[in-house]
Parts: sequence; C-alpha cells; structure tokens
Amino acid sequence: MKYLAFPLLLVPVFVVPSVAQPPARMPVESKNGMVVCVSPPAAEVGVATLKAGGNAVDAAVAVGFALAVTWPEAGNIGGGGFMMVGPPGAEPTCFEYRETAPATATVDLFADGKITHLDHKAAGVPGTVRGLALAHQRFGKRPWKEVVSPAVTLAEKGFIVNGPLAASLNRVLADPKTTNAEFRRVYGKPDGGKWQVGDTLVLPDLGRTLRVIAETGPEAFYTGAPADLLAKEMTAGNGLIAKADLVAYRAMERKPIHTTYRGYDVYGPPPPSGGGVVLAEMLNTLENFNLKALGRWSPEVSHLMAESMKRAYCDRARYLGDPDFITIPDHLTTKAYAKTLASGIDPKKATPSDTLAPEITLDKEGDSTTHFSVIDQAGMAVSNTYTLENSYGNRVVVRGAGYILNNEMTDFNPKPGLTTRSGQIGTKPNRLAPGKRMLSSMTPTLVFKTGKPVLVTGSPGGRTITNTVLCVVVNVIDFDMPVQEAVDSPRMHHQWFPDAIRFEGVREHPDLVTKLRAMGHTVTSHRQGDAHSIRIDPKNGLYLGAADRRIDGKAAGY
Ligand code: DON
Repeated sequence: MKYLAFPLLLVPVFVVPSVAQPPARMPVESKNGMVVCVSPPAAEVGVATLKAGGNAVDAAVAVGFALAVTWPEAGNIGGGGFMMVGPPGAEPTCFEYRETAPATATVDLFADGKITHLDHKAAGVPGTVRGLALAHQRFGKRPWKEVVSPAVTLAEKGFIVNGPLAASLNRVLADPKTTNAEFRRVYGKPDGGKWQVGDTLVLPDLGRTLRVIAETGPEAFYTGAPADLLAKEMTAGNGLIAKADLVAYRAMERKPIHTTYRGYDVYGPPPPSGGGVVLAEMLNTLENFNLKALGRWSPEVSHLMAESMKRAYCDRARYLGDPDFITIPDHLTTKAYAKTLASGIDPKKATPSDTLAPEITLDKEGDSTTHFSVIDQAGMAVSNTYTLENSYGNRVVVRGAGYILNNEMTDFNPKPGLTTRSGQIGTKPNRLAPGKRMLSSMTPTLVFKTGKPVLVTGSPGGRTITNTVLCVVVNVIDFDMPVQEAVDSPRMHHQWFPDAIRFEGVREHPDLVTKLRAMGHTVTSHRQGDAHSIRIDPKNGLYLGAADRRIDGKAAGY
C-alpha cells in the first residue's frame, strides 16, 4: 500500500499502478574489485590501489588515509576504529585501533558536566595511524609510501568539494559552538563565504603530516615532529594527551566475534567494540523465529527485532567494555543463552526495558563516523569503520599538524552509577580509567557462506550502528533482498533505553507503526546510518557495490 506524501492526508490513499515510481537503484557491478565509501575521491584512490596490484588491505589503508583528507567530519588520523579483514582461505581477523584514555584522565572527568564534548580533554589518544600500519604490516603487498601517498596528493594539491562535503562543512562552520580558531582557519572558505559544489579544498598542514607519515613511516606520528605538535596543542589547550601517551599507544590484532546465522558465518569486531557481541546476540535470538514466513514489514518481525535489540543492548550496558580492564562473560554469544532470551519474548507485547536488568538502579535525570567496504580480485574482504566520535570530533585542529582531534572520551560512561531511562549509562564495565579503551558500537562486519565472503557491511551512527548492520544482514539473509534495497530500505533501532523504537519507515509503513504501538512500543521517526556495502552475487561471484542512498557516496569497481 502506498500513501501520497503531499497533500499529507490522515487517510491512506491508494496509488494507482500507473503512477510512476522512482526507478529502483542499482548497485555497481564489477569482477575484479570494489570499494564503497562515503567520499568519491577516496573511493577512486581505493580502486586505483587495487588496479596497481594492491590487495584489499592496501586499498583499505589508502582509503583510510584519503578519507582523512576528503571526508573530514569522520575520516581521520586523529581518531580510531576497527578493521575486519577476511583473507581468502583463512580465518578473519580484526585490527583494533580504538583510542585510549590518557594517563592523567580520571573516572569522573565528565561527571560535573563542565567539560564539554568540544574540549581538548575530550580527545583520546589517536589510534588510526598505528592501526592502519598494523593491518598493512600483516597483509599489505604494496609499499607503505605508495598507499599513503594518494592522501598526501589530495591534501597538498586539493580536491573538488561535492554536495555532501559542502553541506557538512557549511553546517559545522555555521555553528557558533565551533570556536577553535585553527579549525576555522583550516576549514573555513578562504573568502569567508559558504563552500559550494566545485570549490577546491587544499589542506597544506595535513598534507605535510601525511607526507611525514608516508616518507618516514607511521611511527613518526607517535614519536616524531607530529607528536610534538600534538603535545604542544594539548599544553596550550589544557588537554590531557602527553607525548608519553602517544609513545605508549598500541593498536591490537584481536580475534573477531563469530556466530552462525541460518547457515552463514558472521564475523564482527570484539570488545572494546560492543558491535560483534551485540550483533551475535541479536542474530542468535532471531534465529529462533521464522522471520521469512512472517514477512519483512510485518509487525511481528519488527517486534521480534526490537525485543532482540533491547535485550542485547541491555547486556551491552551490563557487561561490555575494554577486555584488558574487565572480564566479559562468555555466555553472551552462545546459542543456549539466545534461546532463553527468545523464550522471554512475548510475541504480542513489548517487554518494558525497566524489567530487563533489575540489578541496575535507574535514576531520574535531568554523532560522526564513516564506514567503507573493500574486496579484491582474490576475494580478500575488508570492512572498516573509524571515527572522530562526533562530526569533526572536538572541532580542534592540531596547530601545525593540520588534523582534527577526536572526542572519543565521551564514549566512556560519563557519570559513574548514573543510568537513566533516557539512555545515559553509568554501569561499571565502561567507566573511564587511564590507558583504557572506551566502549564502541562500531560493527564492521563480514558474512561468509562455506568459507567464501558474501557480504561486507557496516555503518556510522553511534549506538544505532549495530542495529543498522542487523537490518542489512537480516534483509539479505532472511529476505533475499538485493543489496541496494537491503541498504536503502527503512531501518529500526532500539537500545534498551530510551525504551522506544526509532524507525525510518514511519511514513512508509503507517499500519506497521500503528500495530507496534498497539503492542506497547513507543515508535519515533529518525534517519539511521550510512551502510556502504558489498554483496558478492551468489549466482556468479560478481561484486555488487551499494552506496547508501542516505548520502551521496560512491561504489567504485573495476
Ligand atoms: O565508537 C562509537 O560507537 C562512536 N564513537 C561512534 C560515533 C558515531 O558513529 C557518530 N556518527 N555518526
């Protein structure tokens, strides 16, 4: 059933079949390799790396550095993330390069509300450069300098601003809270006007830092001149990161979280991301129900998804954090545990979130990331999500080094003990401690069937990320949706608290919303995620790249 959007009527109006429908969006098809990401020039860098004989990790490292130039709201060298690599014929692995808390950070850093997300103190120790270097050292085929150099060129020579970038820059520059003078100098349009499509953005200081990284190696960022510039910036801005924090930072290779789902193997990142555990717990729960028979837009499927989400997100708050600081129970990803969760779901009624974790006292009270997917000719798949936390992080540009700092410290639970119905979490596992990694929701995901990759996906979106991935995976596996539709169709999110479903399809599926409300769910309308994905066509092995309709990214294949 279709509804006319205008005029907005309360009564549904059937659209006669002769009314033209928007054409179905098609994925980009290729045989030898594919890169899908938010920024066209960065996608082109990735494909050029593949064409030059690089493998998927070479291309991913090249894209990672290129996005630090061409998508400054989230692409970064001043932040951190997770890279899943599926080498052909071998077990997938995860390169974890999450930021750490500086040595002088204290548990109650954010507790009195005086330190904002735009403070120098909100920055964690950046992990991206050592993370990309570790992945490259393990799997890269092309020389380091060669994979970093395209980013140097983009920064030094400049690149053409497209619509989404112009809008993003104009948005952050129009915000009076963007007060860092160096940020305004570097990202403001030289004539003081608004950025327009077709303008050229040149970033000479960032180019110099990238050139040092390319020519003298990744260590320079942590121990050389760029590290001294960060330490100086921190002293001047009353921040916490010292050079010793940079020297001590280590990226890690970790074993992914693995589960099976209806005969597929699904791999996601392990803690300190909650993504892999939460995704596995939700899929294991949903496996107890025949979703396909119920139909994708049936109230039952949305109800079961929301109930699985709220239970898994409740466990996220209870148990997840940096595994080097806490012990995480093993049962969360078992099929037996999921069975007990599934049997606790009332098929007709929403379970109030309040009842799920009686041991947590609920108090009264008072986003940007980017994901890209890569696959090469040999079938090596890379799924990478990295971030500065909010759009443009803390909006501080390191003077002389030209890069933006993250504000990832705000991902620690801000007030010890304060868990609220509006979604603030104060549980122990993710409390701040020096050297600790803050809990993430990033969920770069690889799906395999009989040892071969079939889907590479992930998304930005803070706590919504894991649920965005769940929606894409369920769309593809349960409902056989073509990948572009699986990516573009409306998504939903429930995160335990607030006890509400966020749904993109409120206008498109009003009956569904009415029925969910009748079951006791609160439903609100929100946009969700940006899941640049690759599907490997089960019929012929072709790579199908789907850039998300929500933002004008690029699927580039060859
Ligand atoms: O690690 C995390 O889960 C968050 N810092 C991600 C933030 C994010 O996705 C914001 N962007 N849309």
